[in-house]
Amino acid sequence: MTAIRVFVPQDAAALAVGAGRVVSAIRAEALARGCEIEIVRNGSRGMFWLEPLVEVELPQGRVGYGPVAASDVPGLFDAGFLQGGSHPLAKGIVADLPWLTCQQRLTFARCGITAPLSLDDYRAHGGLVGLTAALQMDPAAIVEEVTKSGLRGRGGAGFPTGIKWRTAAAAPAEQRYIVCNADEGDSGTFADRMIMEGDPYLLIEGMAIAGLAVNATKGFVYIRSEYPHAFKTFSEAIRIAEEAGILGGDVLGSGRAFHLEARLGAGAYICGEETSLLESLEGKRGTVRKKPPLPAIEGLFGKPTIINNLLSLAAVPTILAMGSAFYQEFGIGRSRGTMPIQLAGNVAHGGLIERAFGLTLGDIVEGLGGGTRTGRPIRAVQVGGPLGAYWPTHLFDTPFEYEAFAAKGGMIGHGGIVVFDDSVDLAKQARFAMEFCAIESCGKCTPCRVGSTRGVEVLDRIIAGEDVVNQITLLQDLTELMRDGSLCALGGLTPMPVLSALTHFPEDFDRAPLAQAAE
Ligand SMILES: Cc1cc2nc3c(=O)[nH]c(=O)nc-3n(C[C@H](O)[C@H](O)[C@H](O)COP(=O)(O)O)c2cc1C
Ligand code: SF4
Repeated sequence: MTAIRVFVPQDAAALAVGAGRVVSAIRAEALARGCEIEIVRNGSRGMFWLEPLVEVELPQGRVGYGPVAASDVPGLFDAGFLQGGSHPLAKGIVADLPWLTCQQRLTFARCGITAPLSLDDYRAHGGLVGLTAALQMDPAAIVEEVTKSGLRGRGGAGFPTGIKWRTAAAAPAEQRYIVCNADEGDSGTFADRMIMEGDPYLLIEGMAIAGLAVNATKGFVYIRSEYPHAFKTFSEAIRIAEEAGILGGDVLGSGRAFHLEARLGAGAYICGEETSLLESLEGKRGTVRKKPPLPAIEGLFGKPTIINNLLSLAAVPTILAMGSAFYQEFGIGRSRGTMPIQLAGNVAHGGLIERAFGLTLGDIVEGLGGGTRTGRPIRAVQVGGPLGAYWPTHLFDTPFEYEAFAAKGGMIGHGGIVVFDDSVDLAKQARFAMEFCAIESCGKCTPCRVGSTRGVEVLDRIIAGEDVVNQITLLQDLTELMRDGSLCALGGLTPMPVLSALTHFPEDFDRAPLAQAAE
């Protein structure tokens, strides 16, 4: 009898809702009933409302059950789930679920399907094709391919990746570095983590290609300290890749070297800002460096450094494997390729969606997200992390892409969307944004360090209904100063959530003391 393969994710989100207990229960039950099974710990498919999602491999495909609790396990065995038996938690063939069939997964093509640390699985599902292709190319041709693909940085600013690489390649130096920004500090984001835990060789491949492109022999991955599982899985993936000759002194037998190290971050939001991150990597306190010089010219230890978000680097193997023309056919306008969108907050179907740029915000939160989890109407969504704008429902027809979002005073950032129902108080959310800036400020410049603290006080007076009209004028003045005078985007972008809340939800700021007293 051959063992039946049962998949239970080892992704941190699945573990948080009991995947570890489910595995123990399945093992114990199978032993007691004499069923021969092989448990595979895969990554998550990104349907978090179904986690822990248990899948059974059958001739017709992988049949899913979820969300499974340890207490459900005996019932699943009674229902014959190892043969795909029917059960209230049965979801059918997982690959056929509408959430997955409507996606265009390039970066996340393998996530949740393969065993994350199996190189055989990685190769069998198209892994290393991009790196193998890159090894046949001139460095300048690799840079050209990435430039032509239209890939823009997925970490927030949307800067063209190929141009950054070209700058680093052209900077004269003996030593260059590739740094992956996996600090992922934005609220409601988890895509970087999912790749490190669910498909780590993809990032390794992308970084090795970047190394070849700019002649860098050393890379670092800066992983946020709140991601212990990602750090463990990714460190193990580096070890295996070194042993297999994918990393090290002789990448895939090419004679080219690329060494990689994973580093745990310092636990501050500002360490996601690229120059702060470099300071932190050098062992110093994470404070912002002034630019210029750009890190591409003078970065880590003063050497030319490519610093890219994890998702930017993880898009590169597909571009090299399939060609820039293939990649740039996805998307609209100047937003090319696909974007991993992360849906979180008060939403019925939270999780990871990868789609070409261009579907509307409403399609995402109401269509794919299925509205709020509480069942109350959506009132606002915040897009792009704690510095992103709050969007009212009447702007839900905005296409999800860089320029369309900027035109309406927002940004897509790292693709995180946090949903709020009609019980949200946008004045309190604006205060939260200011307080976030005050707490996370690196302190290097006055508009951010002092401005955010004064901003919290002004918002407190507004919320208390004190002198509201004058305080709102003061708030506008203060945010203008923060936007124009801050050294980095932490202070510079804090006005975005604050002013979007004020502009789109003015009724929440209309707090006359009398009205409050009457409540
Ligand atoms: C306060 C602040 C926090 C940031 N946090 C992150 C982060 O967590 N991850 C990230 O990739 N970029 C973050 N960024 C953007 C980086 O500074 C930088 O633009 C990015 O890593 C460049 O990579 P990309 O071109 O691939 O987007 C942050 C920026 C600021 C101002
Ligand atoms: S804006 Fe804030 S975080 Fe950025 S450099 Fe100034 S003080 Fe530091």
